[in-house]
This record gives sequence, structure tokens and C-alpha cells, in this order.
Amino acid sequence: MLAGKRVLVIIGGGIAAFKSLDLIRRLRERGATVTPVLTRAAEEFVTPLSTSALAGRKVYRDLFDLTDEAEMGHIELSRDADLLVVAPCTADLMAKMAGGHANDLASTVLLATDKRVLIAPAMNMRMWQHPATQRNLATLGGDGVLVVGPNEGDMACGEHGPGRMAEPLEIVAGVEAALMDGPLKGRHVLVTSGPTHEPIDPVRFIANRSSGTQGTAVARVLSALGARVTFVTGPASVAPPGGVEVVRVETARQMLAAVQAALPADAAVFAAAVADWRMAEDQPSKMKKDGSGKVPVLEFAENPDILATVSRMGEGRPGLVVGFAAETDEVIAHATAKRARKGCDWIVANDVSPETGIMGGSENAVTLISADGAEDWPRMGKDRVAARLAARIAKALT
Ligand code: C5P
Repeated sequence: MLAGKRVLVIIGGGIAAFKSLDLIRRLRERGATVTPVLTRAAEEFVTPLSTSALAGRKVYRDLFDLTDEAEMGHIELSRDADLLVVAPCTADLMAKMAGGHANDLASTVLLATDKRVLIAPAMNMRMWQHPATQRNLATLGGDGVLVVGPNEGDMACGEHGPGRMAEPLEIVAGVEAALMDGPLKGRHVLVTSGPTHEPIDPVRFIANRSSGTQGTAVARVLSALGARVTFVTGPASVAPPGGVEVVRVETARQMLAAVQAALPADAAVFAAAVADWRMAEDQPSKMKKDGSGKVPVLEFAENPDILATVSRMGEGRPGLVVGFAAETDEVIAHATAKRARKGCDWIVANDVSPETGIMGGSENAVTLISADGAEDWPRMGKDRVAARLAARIAKALT
């Protein structure tokens, strides 16, 4: 429920703008007050009249409108909300936000705000995949901007792929997660997720089969319980949840740096399947066959152990540090030893033998190992494991 919450909805110029009218309606149904802002391009897709009729309020349109400025200046407009939502957020709006531009009302409000910002990107899939957009996405994630979507599917331009704006109810869920007063409100929780990729040379890398499903589910539930979640993810095959701060990394060393930059945190959950080793030397050019039949021998160096580093950091250590242990035999004995070795508070241990179908699958059967001993949980969906773990974290922190 969003009763009493004030949401500023900035509608960008894209075909998905028509869905933002439904978004406004859904937010108001839940009790939110919605102030709409239209970019000039948005007015090509939806009219100011329909927007203000659905919002039940005046729609703001132009930076240099003296009447608007007299009623409510753009600085006040940017602060007079609990959350700013940009939907659809075009590639151009993302670029403006990442670059700190302020050349129209929407970008000025976004630069002047002291509130959290949630964007629902929508654009052609090539525009979404373009390195410039991906760079901007990473910058915005680092700035604490929350991202919902885009989804994959048929696009108005006739192509199929990632770029469709998230559905209004998915955006509403992101808004609720960002504004909700759950038991973890005011708490900051760090979650790592996904595999890491360790380059062998500029075109090859070492990876593992982690999909990021469990870490993503944990982050989603923690956020739904009201926590501010920083989600540091390797190249996972599932999309990150909405409503969290996403920091994308590739290697273990980048993941450690991102984790350290995100601290302090009240709790940290290390669900990532971090590569234990990387190449001992950086290879600046592609390794080639030389025709002699000789094969290269790769020399590895050990990666930093992020969980152990954070568990043993002394001052600034999160109050609760949770690790995962993927084992194939003697799960409890190995995981108990791992908890002691790494210095974390809890270990969520699971059996990832191929016959369990757990790694990369949708179910998990875990044992929670803490100072109190080992507690077996029945096999259940990764979402339910996440819900149970997040509830335990909430209990431990409150
Ligand atoms: O040692 P092992 O990889 O089995 O430990 C698993 C736990 O340690 C997971 O929580 C994982 O996220 C974390 N880990 C880490 N940094 C590493 C290796 C593992 O944070 N380099």
C-alpha cells in the first residue's frame, strides 16, 4: 500500500508512454499522490490533458513556465515527493541522467532531487544493448538509481529482445519496495550474486554455472521487507530485481572493490559463486595456436576471498555476515568448517551434486549453519528459501 506516499512520475518520449497512464492509475489506486511531468517528446505520445486527468493533478511540462515556477519551483518539485519514477526512461533520458545534464524540466528535476529515483527503461533492443547505454546504466546503478526492467519480448519496432518497458504492476512493485515500511526499513543490506568471469585473454574467460537465481531472490525479498539493498552481481543469466541498487561487475577483484565501496552495511549476504582463481598474468592479446601442436599451460593465481575479507575486517564489519557453501559431499561437515575458516556468522549450505539439479535450477535444499548448530530446511523453491532466509535476517537485525 502506498497511502500518503508522494510519487513524481516523469514520462519520457517513447511508445511505452501509454502504459505510464495505467501506472499513474495503479499508483493512485494504492493511495499514492502522483505528480506527473511530461518531457516534450512524451507529448507526442500522450496528451497533457489525459495525463493530468488520470493523475487528478496539474501536469508539469516546461522549465521556463513562469506560472509553474510561481506555483512550485523546479527545485521544490524535485523534493516534494518521496520517490521519483521515470517511465518510460528513454536512452536519451538515461544519458542525460548519467551525464548530469539539466536542459529541460525532467532532467533538471532529476539532477536537483534529494530523493531516490527509480527508472523503467524502454527502447529498441539495439539501443539498450549499445555500450553507451550499458555504460550509462552502470553509472546510474552506482549513483543509487533503482532500475525495473526492461523486459524481453516483441517490440513496437517489430524486433524481439530486451527493451520493452516493465509492466505497470512490476513498476508498482518496485515503487512499493522502495517506499515500504517493512521490518528492515532504514537497514542497508549488501548482497552478492551470480558467477564471476575471469579473463584468460581478451576473448576467453573462465566462468561457472551459477545463474544468480538464489542471490537475486534473496535481494528481492530483503528489498520487499524494506531494506535498502546494494546488489553486486557478476554476469548472471537472470535479471536483477527491481527496487535495488545494482552494481555490475565481471571479476572477483571487481566484486571485492564494489563490496568495499558499498559498505557500511547492517548485513551482507554473499551468494555469488566467485571464481577461486584467475590468470596469474594479464594477457593483453589473444593467445594463438602456433602450429607446433604445443598447448598452453595456464598458470593461476588465487582470487581474494570476499566473504572472508569482510568477515574479518574488524571495524566496519556488517553486524551479520552470511555466506553460502556449495558442496558435493559431506555438506554439513564441510560447511561447518567453512564457517569457522571464513569467520562469517551463518553459512547457507547446499548440495550441488549434478543429480540434485540445484545449481542453475529453481529449487534448493539447504542447511543453515550458525553458532547454534545445523538446521535442515526441506527442499523448496529458491524464492521460498530466500523468503525464509530474509525473515531470519530481519529477526536477527531487529
Ligand atoms: O570457499 P567457497 O567458494 O566454497 O565459499 C563460498 C562462499 O564464499 C560463498 O558465500 C561465496 O560467495 C564466498 N566467496 C567469496 N569470495 C571468494 C570465494 C567465495 O566471497 N573468492
